[in-house]
Formats: sequence, structure tokens, C-alpha cells
Amino acid sequence: MGQFLSNCSVDALAIAAQALRDGSLVAFPTETVYGLGADATNPTAAARVYEVKGRPSDHPLIVHIGDLKYLEQWISDIPEFAIALARKFWPGPMTLILNRSELAKDFITGGQDTVGIRIPDNSLALGLLEAFHKLGGAGIAAPSANRFGQVSPTTAEAVQDELGDYLSDTDLVLDGGQSSVGVESTIIDCTGELPRILRPGAITIEMIEDVTGLKASNSLDKKSADFEQDNIRVSGSLENHYAPKAKVFLDQQPVYGSRFNALGSIDTPNGVIRLAAPTSVEEFARALYSALREGDHQNLDSIYIAQPTGEGLAIAIRDRLSRSAKGR
Ligand code: TXA
Ligand code: MG
Repeated sequence: MGQFLSNCSVDALAIAAQALRDGSLVAFPTETVYGLGADATNPTAAARVYEVKGRPSDHPLIVHIGDLKYLEQWISDIPEFAIALARKFWPGPMTLILNRSELAKDFITGGQDTVGIRIPDNSLALGLLEAFHKLGGAGIAAPSANRFGQVSPTTAEAVQDELGDYLSDTDLVLDGGQSSVGVESTIIDCTGELPRILRPGAITIEMIEDVTGLKASNSLDKKSADFEQDNIRVSGSLENHYAPKAKVFLDQQPVYGSRFNALGSIDTPNGVIRLAAPTSVEEFARALYSALREGDHQNLDSIYIAQPTGEGLAIAIRDRLSRSAKGR
């Protein structure tokens, strides 16, 4: 059982940074979801991340850094368009896949020649990263702080629920309240001529094309052998991810007595119990995973969800929900 740190003063962040340097795990908030952090240069700590998550070891981890100046050491080269994206959207809900340097070892990249990097936009995460860099740390490897295949946590309590039984006494959970975005970062492969979205998120294809002036592709649109290959590596793209215990029904008429989640503009059908009524797509994303978790707490066997339509963040929501609906 990890220790719960809700008093995240500068001292607490220094303690957490030191714990990371000593090889312990620290779960911390980001604007997307909570991450389970380990020193990205420590193979033993990284191995514990896989163990605690129950995740296969060939799935790569995202390296989180506190500032652009720490990027160079992790990568061997970077295209102009990726520099433009980094300048515009970091800190923020975006992960760039770049060719790795010697520093990014196989235990981080899953044996691939690329590494995923992100600067999160959350004051606690940035405080932790700053304290960690001060101690000579190069980056914090952090997958979402859930057991493999399950719903990502967006609160510290949800992390404790997911991983409490697997963390040890020297591990820490930092409590920074609810994640403001609620779905995982947009992952953009920057190793080709053009940006390619591997996982949709709050940084949308329109935003990417605007900033780079390039045509971006979306791996979800295509099913070439190439993309199939990637899908094995991008664990978030496995079909049975993000699945709660309840069966998720999308865009179907809820049966009498069942639970229902939809935008506030959609009425609750007679005899149906409303789980959530977010008033915007942003709020829908923010509350999505906690609504799914709440369903599990209530031991529901089904949840009916009316998906938000349209582009932008709604694409990321539908991506996660379609996987949730595939079940476990
Ligand atoms: O928002 C987020 O990205 C959160 C927070 C904690 O930063 N992290 C997160 O990590 O979602 P994780 O491990 O749950 O999902 C990251 C995804 C995985 O599916 C992994 O396979 C993929 O990123 N990934 C990481 N490095 C990669 C690489 N070099 N090439 C392709 N995919 C990569
Ligand atoms: Mg994950």
C-alpha cells in the first residue's frame, strides 16, 4: 500500500522526487490522467512499473520532462514540425514519438528505436519534475496509473483503488485533485515526413495541421499492415482497453432501470437513472472515466452512453468508448 500525500508542499515534492531517485514509484496527477512514475533511467524501477500495472514489458512508456531543455538528451533528431508542435502545445496533453538517443533504453521504448516524450500541464506534475531534474533526474517514465487494460484514473482515490494493493510502503501517491482534461494525451508519431496521430486526445488533428501547416494522418482511419503492426505496440489502441466491469452500450435506447450517461442537452428516458449530464464535450471527457468507475462501485452490469458527436475532443471520447464497449 503506497503512502498517500495530499499535502503537496514544495517539501512534499522534494521528498517525492528523492523517492523516485531512490527507485520508488510515485503516482502523480497530470492534466490528462494520473501517471505511475518511475525514474526513466532506472531499469529496476521501470520493471516495477510493469509489475504493478500487470503490463507486458514490450509496451513502451512515455517519458515526462519538466522543460524543453531536457528534450534533447532523449532524442537523436527532431523534424521542424515536431519543434513547432512542442513549442505550441507543451506543457500540454500531447506526446511526441521521436527517434531515441542512447539514454532511452529498451526498458522504456519496448525495444523500439523511438521514444515518447511529454511535458504535462499540471502544476504538481511540473513541480515534481522540477524537483526531480534538480536532483539530476533526466525524466519520469509514467504510464497511466491503472492496471493493464482498465480505465485510467483521474483522481488520487482512483489510483489508490487501482494500485493500492500492488504498491509498496516506500511508493507514493500525490493527490492533486481531479485531472482537468480526463482523457489521455494525443500521441503523434513524428518519425515520418508528416505528423501521424496514433491516439486521439485533446490536441486535435485540426490543431496539429494549423500549427505545422502539414497534412496530418490518423492511424485510426487506416488499416494497413503498417498500422496493424503499430497497434500491437501502442497498448492504448488495443481493442479491449478502457473497459469497466459493467457492459457498456453505446447509442442504444437504455432499458428500464438502467444507468445512462449523456450530454445534458439529451433528456433522460423514463425509468432510467442518470449517471452524469455533462454540459459540454470538455466536461464529458473530464467526467468520463469517473462515471465508468462509479458504475463499477455501484456494481452495475450495464451502462448506457450517448456519445458526443462531431470533431475535436469528441473523437477521443468516441475512441475510448468504442474500446470500453468491447468489454474485457
Ligand atoms: O496522457 C497520457 O499520455 C498519460 C499521462 C500519465 O501522461 N500517459 C499514458 O501512458 O497514457 P500509457 O502508457 O498508459 O499510454 C501511453 C501509450 C501506450 O499505449 C504506449 O504503447 C504508447 O503510448 N507509446 C509510448 N511510447 C511509444 C513509442 N515509442 N512508440 C509508439 N507508442 C508509444
Ligand atoms: Mg494507459
